[in-house]
Amino acid sequence: MKKVPVWIDTDTGVDDAVALLTAVQLEKEGFFEIRGVSAVCGNAELERTFENARNVLSLAGREDIPVFPGAKKPLMTELSTAPEAHGADGLGGAEIPSSQAVREEIPAWDAIYRCARECKGELQLILLGPETNAAIALQKYRDLPSCLKRILIMGGADIGGNRTPAAEFNIYADAYAAQTVFKSGIPVVMCGLDVTMKANLTREEMEDLDTFDSKGCRLFRESSQVTRRLYEKLEGVKNYYVHDACPVLFAACPDMFYGEEAGVFVETRGKLTFGKTVSDRDTDIKFGVKNTFVVLDLDRDRFAQAVIKALKAV
Ligand code: RIB
Ligand code: CA
Repeated sequence: MKKVPVWIDTDTGVDDAVALLTAVQLEKEGFFEIRGVSAVCGNAELERTFENARNVLSLAGREDIPVFPGAKKPLMTELSTAPEAHGADGLGGAEIPSSQAVREEIPAWDAIYRCARECKGELQLILLGPETNAAIALQKYRDLPSCLKRILIMGGADIGGNRTPAAEFNIYADAYAAQTVFKSGIPVVMCGLDVTMKANLTREEMEDLDTFDSKGCRLFRESSQVTRRLYEKLEGVKNYYVHDACPVLFAACPDMFYGEEAGVFVETRGKLTFGKTVSDRDTDIKFGVKNTFVVLDLDRDRFAQAVIKALKAV
């Protein structure tokens, strides 16, 4: 089976780490080939997300996957991190050995473009954080849209918001970058809160992971305490939403998900709606272009099984 090339851009926080380990497992099973990873500021500062990405891949025995440093701040707004959900270091203070891999110095946007050219239009770009690196690449390389097959994101929402009532964190964190991506002409698969808030683990599944002795489960157990406490405060139950594993699993097993084509663009001027992904999926008036596949639902059991398998396999 011809291996599908993917590139993962991440603001390596807790669910990003789970997504990276899930991607490593999916590559082992032949679904795709991880051509590279790049870090972006978001959940934490770039210095942290860069180290976290390197260390998570090292934990999985994959120091061969190159990790490139990206943007230290959003395109035009100030950096606003999420320590309340991911801890100051981005991984909830979890103990994790330092990678011994070569420290890449080429900027993420140049590395993404180089890889896209090498893959001759087949590369799928998976964005798990603010879309700053992708936007810089699109601004610097005008032919990039012709070199990418599609962009799959965790971000936005047809309905909902978790940074404001109107906006999801990744989009809100760099709304101008996200607008650049949605206006690029490259097909977008949007795994927004509509589906990722259904992509949760049950109490029994969490207990199983918390008691299983693998490096992946130990990292999840140690890193996710901050997030669990946040959700417990917000919802009254120890929940865990594996937001970032959605686009990764969509790239490998799209039949695990349900969604609809729509026009989606980003509000960059509104006071109340800044960072909102405005979708015409359910409106009478349309944008006139269907640039996005809006993912709305998933087979949660299959999703959880894939994530648990990946964490136990490391
Ligand atoms: O809104 C959830 C998203 O914001 C996830 O990507 C999480 O890692 C944070 O970056
Ligand atoms: Ca993320």
